[in-house]
Amino acid sequence: MASRAQLKSEPPLQTIDLPPEQIYFGPSKAMEAVRWKVTRAAGLNVPILILGESGTGKEVLARYVHARSPWNGRPFVKVNCAAIPGTLIESELFGFEKGAFTGAHAAKPGRMESAQGGTLFLDEIAEIDASLQAKLLHVLQDATFTRIGGHTEKHLDARIVCATNRKLQNEIETGAFRSDLLYRINVITVHLPPLRERRDDIPYLAEYLRQQFNRRFRRSAPALTLEAVKLLQEQEWPGNVRELENWLARYVVLGTDEVFSNNGAQPKRQQAVPTTDDGHIPLKHLARQATRDMERDLIVKVLEAHQWNRRRAAEALNISYRTLLYKARQAGILVKVPPAESGSGPALVEKSRVRGD
Ligand SMILES: Nc1ncnc2c1ncn2[C@@H]1O[C@H](COP(=O)(O)OP(=O)(O)OP(=O)(O)O)[C@@H](O)[C@H]1O
Ligand SMILES: [Mg+2]
Repeated sequence: MASRAQLKSEPPLQTIDLPPEQIYFGPSKAMEAVRWKVTRAAGLNVPILILGESGTGKEVLARYVHARSPWNGRPFVKVNCAAIPGTLIESELFGFEKGAFTGAHAAKPGRMESAQGGTLFLDEIAEIDASLQAKLLHVLQDATFTRIGGHTEKHLDARIVCATNRKLQNEIETGAFRSDLLYRINVITVHLPPLRERRDDIPYLAEYLRQQFNRRFRRSAPALTLEAVKLLQEQEWPGNVRELENWLARYVVLGTDEVFSNNGAQPKRQQAVPTTDDGHIPLKHLARQATRDMERDLIVKVLEAHQWNRRRAAEALNISYRTLLYKARQAGILVKVPPAESGSGPALVEKSRVRGD
């Protein structure tokens, strides 16, 4: 692990432009695929199911889908199925008429009604019980619902987006979730990969979040150094983007010393030999990964040795300039452009800006 002095002495990364949305799509293949899918589906009233571990950004993606839909001027209504007790969730969703049950002193519209014309986001959908699953299935089949105690059928006119961090296939096998309901809600399924499977995104997410927190806390925490970013890329991030976000908040508030101190540091990537689901050791995959890691480190070293002059580094590595740019981009290396190459003083550019200039 790099020392704190090293981390401090590294030059900072250049600021990157931020998208206007509150979600940041990194350059990883996985996130490119997610963006492609949701962009195609956002404009049509088809149900979307978002799957992913806790903290991978399911809710921000649901809000993004709504923002990109033609009904973005209408409400986005979230129902956290895990947070509302089983007995209450039905009245929360469907609403009720006066006198429908003890305590129903006045009629109240449910969230389905509040979401009319907009998006209804059913978060933690796997948590609803069997009876509500059956009711929800009917609502989705007929696109109608009735308030509890009411007789008037109302047309459901909201896009449904559901999310869960559970493996729904397992829930179906154990009988905890209805397969017919799954087929209703998963017309478009989006898998948000865990952060450890999209480490290429980490430099960009970190920079995005740093800028967000600087604005929010009115701070001016400097951009992370290359070494610091590399350290972040080596972490496991079991809490995914939420954990990275908290780390950046600490960094902006407390500074580098604190977050890289023992208290703030996280466990390094586990060194245990990984196995596939069927217990095999994926030798080819591991060997490819090891080669990529070695290549990445070597390219950084050679770039450093040549003051980040990419042409000279390419010559030293005996590869073409274009190949170097390609490999640097693939490896997520944030390439520093020296004055001779950039023509406007020392600066660091983020990898998607690395071109064959
Ligand atoms: N791609 C992203 N860009 C910016 N911020 C993100 C991104 N993904 C997640 N976040 C941030 O990480 C935090 C967790 O995101 P979110 O609540 O959407 O995750 P989740 O998958 O719904 O988690 P949980 O399953 O625990 O509810 C939020 O504060 C969110 O703003
Ligand atoms: Mg969530």
